[in-house]
Amino acid sequence: MAQSLEERCNRILRNMEASLTARDRVGIQDFVLLDAYTSETAFLDNLRKRFRENLIYTYIGTLLVSLNPYKELDIYSKKQMDTYMGVNFFELPPHIYALADNVFRTMMSEFNNHFILISGESGAGKTEASKKILHFYAVSCPSTKILNNVRDRLLLSNPVLEAFGNAKTLKNDNSSRFGKYMDIQFDHQGGAVGGHILSYLLEKSRVVHQNHGERNFHIFYQLVDGGDEELLRWLGLRRDCQHYNYLVQGDCAKVSSVNDRSDWRTVCKALSVVNISESDVEHLFEIVASVLHLGNLKFEADTRGYAALHNSQEMHWLSKLLGIPAQVLEQALTHRKIEAKTEEVFSPFSVDHAVYARDALAKAVYGRTFNWLVNKINESLANVDSSRKTVIGLLDIYGFEVFTVNSFEQFCINYCNEKLQQLFIQLTLKSEQAEYEMEGVEWEPVPYFNNKIICDLVEEKHRGIISLLDEECLRPGEATDFTLLEKMEEIIGGHPHFVTHKLADQKTRKSLARGDFRLLHYAGEVTYSVIGFLDKNNDLLYRNGKEVMQQSKNLIIKHCFPPSEPDHKKRPETVVTQFKSSLVGLIEILGTKEPWYVRCIKPNEAKEPGRFDDVLVRHQVKYLGLMEHLRVRRAGFAYRRKYEIFLQRYKPLCPDTWPSWKGTAAEGVQVLIKHLRYQPDEYKMGRTKIFIRHPRTLFATEDAFQVCKHKLATKIQAKYKGYRVKGDYQKQKEAATKIENCWRGLVARKEREKREWAVAIIKRFIKGFMTRNEPSGADNREYLSYVRHSYLTRLRENLPKTLLHKDSWLTPPPILKETSLFLKQLFIRHMVRKYVQGITEERKALLLLKVQTSFMFKGKKESYPLSVCTPFLDTRIDIGDMNMKALRMIQHENVKYSVPVVKYDRNGFRPRPRQLVFTRDAAYLLDEAKIKQRIRYGSLKGVSVSNLSDNFLILHVTCDDVKQKGDLVLECDFLFEALTKLSVIVDKCDFIQVVQDSVRFDIQPGREGVVDFRSGQESVVYRAKNGHLTVESTSTKSR
Ligand SMILES: Nc1ncnc2c1ncn2[C@@H]1O[C@H](COP(=O)(O)OP(=O)(O)OP(=O)(O)O)[C@@H](O)[C@H]1O
Ligand SMILES: [Mg+2]
Repeated sequence: MAQSLEERCNRILRNMEASLTARDRVGIQDFVLLDAYTSETAFLDNLRKRFRENLIYTYIGTLLVSLNPYKELDIYSKKQMDTYMGVNFFELPPHIYALADNVFRTMMSEFNNHFILISGESGAGKTEASKKILHFYAVSCPSTKILNNVRDRLLLSNPVLEAFGNAKTLKNDNSSRFGKYMDIQFDHQGGAVGGHILSYLLEKSRVVHQNHGERNFHIFYQLVDGGDEELLRWLGLRRDCQHYNYLVQGDCAKVSSVNDRSDWRTVCKALSVVNISESDVEHLFEIVASVLHLGNLKFEADTRGYAALHNSQEMHWLSKLLGIPAQVLEQALTHRKIEAKTEEVFSPFSVDHAVYARDALAKAVYGRTFNWLVNKINESLANVDSSRKTVIGLLDIYGFEVFTVNSFEQFCINYCNEKLQQLFIQLTLKSEQAEYEMEGVEWEPVPYFNNKIICDLVEEKHRGIISLLDEECLRPGEATDFTLLEKMEEIIGGHPHFVTHKLADQKTRKSLARGDFRLLHYAGEVTYSVIGFLDKNNDLLYRNGKEVMQQSKNLIIKHCFPPSEPDHKKRPETVVTQFKSSLVGLIEILGTKEPWYVRCIKPNEAKEPGRFDDVLVRHQVKYLGLMEHLRVRRAGFAYRRKYEIFLQRYKPLCPDTWPSWKGTAAEGVQVLIKHLRYQPDEYKMGRTKIFIRHPRTLFATEDAFQVCKHKLATKIQAKYKGYRVKGDYQKQKEAATKIENCWRGLVARKEREKREWAVAIIKRFIKGFMTRNEPSGADNREYLSYVRHSYLTRLRENLPKTLLHKDSWLTPPPILKETSLFLKQLFIRHMVRKYVQGITEERKALLLLKVQTSFMFKGKKESYPLSVCTPFLDTRIDIGDMNMKALRMIQHENVKYSVPVVKYDRNGFRPRPRQLVFTRDAAYLLDEAKIKQRIRYGSLKGVSVSNLSDNFLILHVTCDDVKQKGDLVLECDFLFEALTKLSVIVDKCDFIQVVQDSVRFDIQPGREGVVDFRSGQESVVYRAKNGHLTVESTSTKSR
């Protein structure tokens, strides 16, 4: 039941709401607080008032009084269970769950064993109460898969046992016809880990006989009504209760409040949950069916007056279901086996005897099967873990019963109730007395009716009714029920609680038949008919009946009739003695545990909701000893509470104790009651508890608390909300700081890693740098690789754009010198290839001309290098710029090239602008329209040029003819171009002579001129005094 703080707070809030409901405060929730506590009328008034509002529970201290509402109330939901979980008794309206929860919590905190005694007369609601408690534990206790298994078995043991052990009586449609004590075992965590059931005296006589308006055990009707066709066929049953003698005697097979068909389904399911195998279930139903068949066996007297079986059909089914040969069975039912010295003799039964034997067998079979079933359930509930457990016992035993005709069974049942009342008296008085003693508080004893006198009347050795009954059963001779009556009259005739027809006074005698005796029980008078007492007490099953059962092929029967059963020579214990022993055992079991009580009251006999029969309730209040219990509770002090609990509840009423008290609880209570102005005679301080004498004192305190509670609730609510919000805020803040820290840490770590990495890199870099010229090794490998990479990357980005820039090649680091050289070569080759592939035919032709020029002048004439970059043109004078007349004269020779020149006269060396034209056949010197000179290529001896940077050329001509003009001295700006063209036209290149210093030329045949070439400060041409033409040119190197 561990709960989180939040759950607990929610529950407390819910509880507050619940306890504020006005309806719940109808009357008084705890009789201890009733001012007129000695008045039965006031007691009844309070019960009635609450009952009208469907408030069926009221406390007398820790005792719970429960009224049967005879209708479904909406107070058993899961929500209700949650509400009552972990809450103190007086904090919420009375409820069976409050009691269950308190028992549980006391058990957990004190680690001891408890039992809840549920008492009340038949139909008062004991079984329902015990089921509610069981349900509460099933829902509220911690659960695991294994625990759930135990829980289901505990819960479903109920429908199984109710089917076999409950029946409709006149008092109750679902009356428990056996006593049941169930232990629920809890481990140290509060988990229900196992259970054990003790059953007490099943009312077997019901199997063979039911009073009018009553039924046999439910299971018979469930099987007949709910079993499917196939099953019924297999069991030889008809779907008709009227067909079975054992089901028709009460004449009420159908009950409106009972749904046999759906109960049948529940039982079948429950049987498998409580671990009863399929084959066992089959055997179980075979037994139920065989009891019905047994009931239908009829006997007739034969000629000798002996019993003979009348209908063999039923015997056939019995034989089949029980797995016993029909003849064997028949003999067992019609004969008694007598052992005479050495031999066995079978003596035939009369019809009456046979019927008696049949019924005895039916009762024995059913009764033993019921015990087998309880044992089976116990096996399934057994807890295998041997560690120490604490238990809560639930005692739901048949209630006090008074019918018109009461027999042996009622005697036993009422005796049992008498014993439990005795236990109740002892325990309540004992505990009350012990409490006052323990707490050191004065206490004055209260008179109450002690039913010990009745218990003694029944059970006293030698003199008690039980002893007399047993004596009568066991003594030799003709003992009858009437001899028993006589004996009782003789021995206990004077007892104030015993009366018979003979002993009674005139008035009483009228109400007693001759065979009756009357006991004045604590719960009222009951008149018993003595008829059948001896028989039922003997519960004789003829010996061969037992032996026959031992042969059965039905395994349950075989198990229930073991061969080891004491033989007939030793008489088995009588029924009543067995019952008495089992009750002694029960009282012993209960004596070691802490008691809690639920007293159930029946509001009317008609099972009607809302009807409160004053007389009936008053009677029960009386015999249940509720008034006495109340008086005992109130004798000293009406109310007591542990200091801690009292302080916890009422501390808001005093500023010194609210919200928390630092000292001991007792001191706190002292301060509190001083503040509340309790008078000295109103209370006593015990060792651990405060005792309050009058209810009104507590009421005043409680009323003050109710008023204060609302204010407090608001305050607490506000505080709690604030607390939650603050808590949330703090949580968020903490979370944010945490995240921040983590994030910062992460970033810092990353930064540090980065730096460490950088330092390492730099270190390696420096080391690499320092060892860069050493052979590649660990120290410099990376650096060198970097250098290589870096150089190659840079080189890629800075490659020379053209071949002309090849000298801009990046200087390599030492390790890449060789590579660089290789790459450079490769690159140049590549560039060349690219260049070559990129040039056109025309350009190629032009370049070839340049090659030729180079061939002719490179390294020979100083101005040659400067000319290289000037591209050649086809011609320097367009056709259009030439004189048309001159052109017409030479056109037929196909003009190849023309260029402006300066011609120096042969005499006087005066410069004249002229045009030099090369045709296919000759070179022409033109002056406008005049052809000044025509030189056929055949007569061209050669051409002289200086090695300097001047532009002079001298065409040497063969002079065969004196008329012909001599050599031509020309200056041409496009000297290299013109001479290259000429060499191509004449298809020669060795006709050019590069001369130094001076050159001779023929002015006319036989007359020579000289041209001197010199380097000078500036370019000048003049006729020197020696009559030479002097050409000075500036050196290209100095330019
Ligand atoms: N708390 C309850 N709410 C609704 N109905 C109830 C309650 N308690 C008892 N009853 C009704 O009363 C009937 C009788 O109750 P129950 O069987 O518990 O009586 P009992 O005291 O066990 O009687 P007996 O001694 O005969 O076994 C139930 O079948 C049910 O109809
Ligand atoms: Mg019951």
